[in-house]
Amino acid sequence: MDRSTLIGMVGAGTMGAAIAQGAAASGFTVLLNDRDPAVLERAMAQIKGSLGRAVEKGKISAAEAEATLGRLQPIADLGGLAPCGLVIEAIIETFEAKAALLRSLSAILAPQVLIATNTSSLKVDDLAKAVTGPERFLGLHYFFPAAVNPLLEIVRGTATTEAAMAEAVEFARLTAKQAIRCRDAFGFAVNRFFVPYLNEAVRLLDEGFDPAEIDAVVVKEFKTAVGPFKLMDMSKPVIALHACRTLAAMGPFYEPAESLVTKGNSGENWNVGVAQSVAPERAAVILGRIQGAILTAFFEAVDEEVAAPEDFDLGARIGLAWGWQPLSGARSLGRAAVEELLARHFAGRALPSSVATLIPSP
Ligand SMILES: NC(=O)c1ccc[n+]([C@@H]2O[C@H](COP(=O)([O-])OP(=O)(O)OC[C@H]3O[C@@H](n4cnc5c(N)ncnc54)[C@H](O)[C@@H]3O)[C@@H](O)[C@H]2O)c1
Repeated sequence: MDRSTLIGMVGAGTMGAAIAQGAAASGFTVLLNDRDPAVLERAMAQIKGSLGRAVEKGKISAAEAEATLGRLQPIADLGGLAPCGLVIEAIIETFEAKAALLRSLSAILAPQVLIATNTSSLKVDDLAKAVTGPERFLGLHYFFPAAVNPLLEIVRGTATTEAAMAEAVEFARLTAKQAIRCRDAFGFAVNRFFVPYLNEAVRLLDEGFDPAEIDAVVVKEFKTAVGPFKLMDMSKPVIALHACRTLAAMGPFYEPAESLVTKGNSGENWNVGVAQSVAPERAAVILGRIQGAILTAFFEAVDEEVAAPEDFDLGARIGLAWGWQPLSGARSLGRAAVEELLARHFAGRALPSSVATLIPSP
């Protein structure tokens, strides 16, 4: 893998266009495909607009913008991807559509060509069944906005070889992404704790807490631009509901809160206001519940070896731009406080063993 490797991008929607833009900006030539010619045209116009704004802001030169655009080639025919060394798919999130595409790509691409999926919720191993030579197939899970968000989860399926993983890690490095190696588990590393974080905010609302207060506490304590409710409104609550339903296969803790189901299904936004101030005792309860949910998912995922413990912090810091991260946060809270926060989710069950291994007792 080097910058002469030709990249194929299938799906030119929100994610595909941004992934293609990021790779082209890093010096790769990218062939961009979408089954809808209007989408392809719109994607090229959007990328041009985005590069133009970057030039106006002085982030890149006009020559760099032009060179990036020159490295992006829209192609109408999937067969045109044959010379690529890596093909990434970011088409709609349905198993049948992705499996059909992967079967077509398997017929077009030479056996050694790396194939990646940007799926958020499907299992890499399930999709791998549609790939001829699944050892060259893996997940490349980008984060919104993908052209600039520096985080990339690289997901290893059962059949994926170490050589394929190493190629993907090198591609991440060459495109200025921080790579997290993940196992093929629901939510991978970041959504595993991010989705329960959103869900716990809604559980608090269901218990009578004011969502504006919840947003205010999180913004202050996690040093984020927006709280969970504002964030859900930006991508629509139904997306959070869908993500939650994916994780729900792992047990009741991950099941969507009552209001998340109704709000998600209604198609409406939360539209929460701004809290002027939050009483310290209420703020402490909100923060403890939110941290407790994040830590529950984090320690369970570490026990399952979904990713290295430090990588969850990397994901929180650079993927989500949180000023509070699970591993370092738990360590500063200390073992006793962490065990207290986890208690409500582990009634009658043993705590994950990583609590003891990662947080030394005082
Ligand atoms: N939106 C996010 O924040 C986000 C984050 C991480 C991962 N993802 C994943 O990325 C993928 C794409 O998401 P999106 O938000 O960009 O969706 P989108 O709806 O914006 O884009 C999907 C595109 O795929 C095209 N398409 C559908 N079937 C096709 C086919 N057979 N061949 C070629 N093109 C086809 C559609 O025309 C559409 O342009 C999904 O798997 C999603 O789960 C999304």
